[in-house]
Amino acid sequence: MTQSTDGRAATGGPRTVPELLLGRPPMARELPSFDPYRAPAGPGQLFVDWLVDAVEAEVPDHQVVTLSTVDADGAPDARVLVLRDVDVARCGWVFATADDSPKGRQLAAHPAAAMTLYWPLLGRQVRIRGEVEQARSEVAAAEFLTRSPGARVAALVGRQSEVLESPAVYEAAADVARRALAQEPGTIAPGHAVYTLWAHEVEFWQGDADRRHVRLRYVRSGDGRRDSWARTMLWP
Ligand SMILES: Cc1cc2nc3c(=O)[nH]c(=O)nc-3n(C[C@H](O)[C@H](O)[C@H](O)COP(=O)(O)O)c2cc1C
Repeated sequence: MTQSTDGRAATGGPRTVPELLLGRPPMARELPSFDPYRAPAGPGQLFVDWLVDAVEAEVPDHQVVTLSTVDADGAPDARVLVLRDVDVARCGWVFATADDSPKGRQLAAHPAAAMTLYWPLLGRQVRIRGEVEQARSEVAAAEFLTRSPGARVAALVGRQSEVLESPAVYEAAADVARRALAQEPGTIAPGHAVYTLWAHEVEFWQGDADRRHVRLRYVRSGDGRRDSWARTMLWP
């Protein structure tokens, strides 16, 4: 759909931007219930339970998360990523990226992050905060080799988030990467990195069409990575 200069939709009727945004409220559908008193002792298991529900409900892109970091000036930054694994017992959320990307540099300087997911069909949000640890290079290499050829080429091209001079420059770099990969299939992108967000707090938020949202927060009780979590409910 295109917008005219006065902010009205060019097709589909005279709708303003606020009408487009607010005309259909979020979560106006039947949503699952969530009983926090029956929640598991740790957030890792509850996350997996909700992940199973999301997959079974066919939530699109159920594995896509928003990762928030802070830059050198303390300013927030965020982008979406694919969640690659969860350490259920120790409550770590695993993602992969280039360590020389802006987020990689931000994490090197300030290894803390927030991760947020929203599964719209279920009206469920999960918020995770904690410290980020970069995995050893062997772990990153093994993860890299699980990737499709296209994903490996993209990673080998590198320079994520740098200014692109022109599409032709990218194509030339991708050709070089493709040839390198064909000659040496075991090639690992030098900046490829795997990180784990070790949660110190995780909130599970079950939306309700009548605003009686149910919120359960887990807080790690010690400094270490013990599986000891305090659970509290939060006002909606
Ligand atoms: C659905 C989706 C999945 C993505 N998955 C990843 C990912 O797993 N790793 C990654 O580095 N970037 C991923 N991206 C791209 C990032 O959102 C972002 O554009 C890129 O990592 C550069 O971020 P930065 O400049 O903050 O470092 C994904 C984007 C989308 C839309």
